[in-house]
Amino acid sequence: MAKARKVAVLVGSLRKASYNRKMALALAKLAPETLKLEIVEIGALPHYNEDDEGQPPAAWVAFRDAVKACDALLFVTPEYNRSVPGVLKNAIDVGSRPYGSSVWSGKPGAVVSVSPGAMGGFGSNHHLRQSLVFLDVPTLQQPEAYIGGAATLFDDAGGIAKEDTKKFLTKFLEAFAAWIETNAKA
Ligand code: FNR
Repeated sequence: MAKARKVAVLVGSLRKASYNRKMALALAKLAPETLKLEIVEIGALPHYNEDDEGQPPAAWVAFRDAVKACDALLFVTPEYNRSVPGVLKNAIDVGSRPYGSSVWSGKPGAVVSVSPGAMGGFGSNHHLRQSLVFLDVPTLQQPEAYIGGAATLFDDAGGIAKEDTKKFLTKFLEAFAAWIETNAKA
């Protein structure tokens, strides 16, 4: 059996009733036993300011340490104005510095975008991938996960209500687990 892998889950919405947070929690339940999905919170990170690197805010340090302790990365995000929500971009920037000490580098990743609209956050998913190329995060390409119709996606217990979507997400997680084994450094 493959080694257990710790996956840092970054959720791009701070909303209490966020569909993306619900998706992150549902994915944690659907994941194969070898993947341990844990949300790393990003809402309290001060805006990135390079001037603060001399004495970095405690929240930056804790965030960087939490991501460093994980084997892989899963981004679950809405689309804001056809792009990545600022709060997630800020977390990516915080993790990428100081120069030469990025916490992202080489960690296998995957992206799920969730939207009430029909396009499933395609624009956000791909803008995020642009940053992940630069940050040297080998990112799962197939299956792509643009999840639309978020308003009817979940049952009352927070599970995935639609059987076909549940099957798709299970396949996605299996592909991600295999991707991690192919790309993990240790
Ligand atoms: C949105 N929303 C949105 N939806 C979309 O499909 N494409 C978009 O470009 C945008 N743009 C956008 C900008 C801003 C500032 C907000 C607040 C919202 C709608 C968005 O998908 C919806 O609010 C989701 O419910 C947000 O995800 P969570 O919070 O439910 O995870």
